[in-house]
Amino acid sequence: MTGEPVNVNEFRELARQALPKMYYDFYTGGAEDQCTLKENEEAFRRIIIQPRILRNVRCIDLSTTVLGYNISMPVMIAPTSLQKLANPEGEIATARAASACNTIMVLSTSSTYSLEEVAACCDAIRFFQLYVYKRRDISAKLVQRAENNGYKAIVLTVDSPRLGRREADVKNKLVVPPLKNLEGLLPTKFVSDEKGSGLAALASGTLDASFCWEDITWLKSITNLPILIKGVLTREDAIKALEVGVDGMIVSNHGGRQLDYSPATISVLEEVVDAVGGKVPVLVDGGIRRGTDIFKALALGAQAVLVGRAVVYGLAAKGEKGVNRVLEMLKEELELTMALSGCCSVKEISRSHVRTKHDQQL
Ligand code: FNR
Repeated sequence: MTGEPVNVNEFRELARQALPKMYYDFYTGGAEDQCTLKENEEAFRRIIIQPRILRNVRCIDLSTTVLGYNISMPVMIAPTSLQKLANPEGEIATARAASACNTIMVLSTSSTYSLEEVAACCDAIRFFQLYVYKRRDISAKLVQRAENNGYKAIVLTVDSPRLGRREADVKNKLVVPPLKNLEGLLPTKFVSDEKGSGLAALASGTLDASFCWEDITWLKSITNLPILIKGVLTREDAIKALEVGVDGMIVSNHGGRQLDYSPATISVLEEVVDAVGGKVPVLVDGGIRRGTDIFKALALGAQAVLVGRAVVYGLAAKGEKGVNRVLEMLKEELELTMALSGCCSVKEISRSHVRTKHDQQL
């Protein structure tokens, strides 16, 4: 590839060139046959945009709010672990880019800079993604630290009672660098594993597979922060999540890294949005590589989207500048899509702007 990258997929190629195979595989890979991984992107291609013409689209406003926080565009940064493997500045670079683009970054529990270091590096609006460990006291401590350090919400990941089987990581014997939030809290002997993925070994030793709906009450009892649950894929679970009183939900299949053959997120978004009926915000992630993808997600009822790999590709290719560029690119693409579809603001993007396979053929 020559010249500057012009889209997210070209950033992916730059990331491939920049990274050792073990790390590139870790970032791009999915679980088992990687069916869900591929479907996350493919399902977007099957949705058609129905543009409206002859609207005055001279000024386009992409700003929106999530949990009351104003952001410059309906695109947030998904939690992705181990960012130092992409660039030495890791999560610090990502947070600075989030701040420059005025959007929200969700920091992973499994970060390679501590949540305190990320909080101190810039004024980005930050949410904290939480894994619940067998050692419940450690998760409680993390929540407390997030709260003390100005994180604005807890994003509870609920699709990972065990780690999905990512075969590339098993083959490559992925070595996990120090997880800074867990230093002194969890044993580090799992970080490399001669038999396979170091991450799988770490997860199986630590994640609490017994965590269930009733335990959300426990989480609510230890924090005043709003709680978003990440990993909702069905109407039934969306209703259950409302019953236990979450403040928002993220339709997510973990970027196809957990249960293979779970549905593409964009294909179940509308079902969840309908079940929620506007009571709390619904966000979505998975397979978003283009402004048109974001537009489709908003048309199907998402308040905003989160991007995982796109950001990591930017980080691996060009550090903070790369993340910045990826976010700007998505913003520019969304703005163009809105203009060409006759929408001046994100509120104007409606269900009638897209056609899915469930809609009658016109
Ligand atoms: C993730 N994801 C993730 N999710 C989470 O809740 N905690 C985590 O630590 C991680 N770590 C992680 C690492 C890497 C390398 C990837 C690619 C993903 C899932 C992530 O938050 C998000 O759901 C997906 O990345 C969205 O799909 P796309 O945008 O990558 O297609």
